[in-house]
Amino acid sequence: MSSTKTRSVVRTVASTQSEMTEIILPNDANTLGNLLGGRLMHFIDLTGAMAAYRHTRTHVVTAAMDHIDFIQPVHVGDLLILKSSVNRAFNTSGEVGVKVWVEHPQTGSMLHVASAYLVFVAIDKDGNRQKVPGLQPETANEIRRFGDALRRREHREAEAARRKKAKAATAAQANNSVTI
Ligand SMILES: CC(C)(COP(=O)(O)OP(=O)(O)OC[C@H]1O[C@@H](n2cnc3c(N)ncnc32)[C@H](O)[C@@H]1OP(=O)(O)O)[C@@H](O)C(=O)NCCC(=O)NCCS
Repeated sequence: MSSTKTRSVVRTVASTQSEMTEIILPNDANTLGNLLGGRLMHFIDLTGAMAAYRHTRTHVVTAAMDHIDFIQPVHVGDLLILKSSVNRAFNTSGEVGVKVWVEHPQTGSMLHVASAYLVFVAIDKDGNRQKVPGLQPETANEIRRFGDALRRREHREAEAARRKKAKAATAAQANNSVTI
């Protein structure tokens, strides 16, 4: 079930921008002292959820984290800077982009280490899906990301349909081998 009550609201990308800073401690790292990929994904999920929350002003769940590049390793003692904003709002869902930098603690230099796209779905406290406010991109970059987000959604939908078809074919094959 979904409600229509928030649809007339339109927000800017700037109003969704969120940032998180973490210092990397030994508990976040592998045996080489590098940040664990799963820990980085957790930070990305949290920062992405903040942007989605600012956009929807209701509860959000992560439906997908569909693209992530780990470009550089992050070390114990580094400062991790994560920035997120909503790229596009759909019906009850929206795509959020998260970009991650590492700040060298002594020099202050910044290095891009990862990027990811996540899809969040808005729900109320009872788990009913909620319409999300519209999003108005303003800058050239925001307009580019707005267009790219639609192409990624179409790709996701095509991929989901392909998986569903493959699963049905496997199930049909299994049924056939049982009845033979
Ligand atoms: C995400 C979830 C609410 C979607 O429920 P559903 O019944 O499959 O919903 P629908 O198929 O009606 O789709 C609802 C919206 O989610 C989007 N969606 C659903 N699954 C998706 C996926 N795998 N990737 C991207 N978007 C997805 C749909 O495109 C749709 O968006 P729209 O309304 O903007 O067009 C449900 O699968 C769920 O609760 N998953 C668990 C979430 C969770 O626990 N996350 C981790 C902790 S926060």
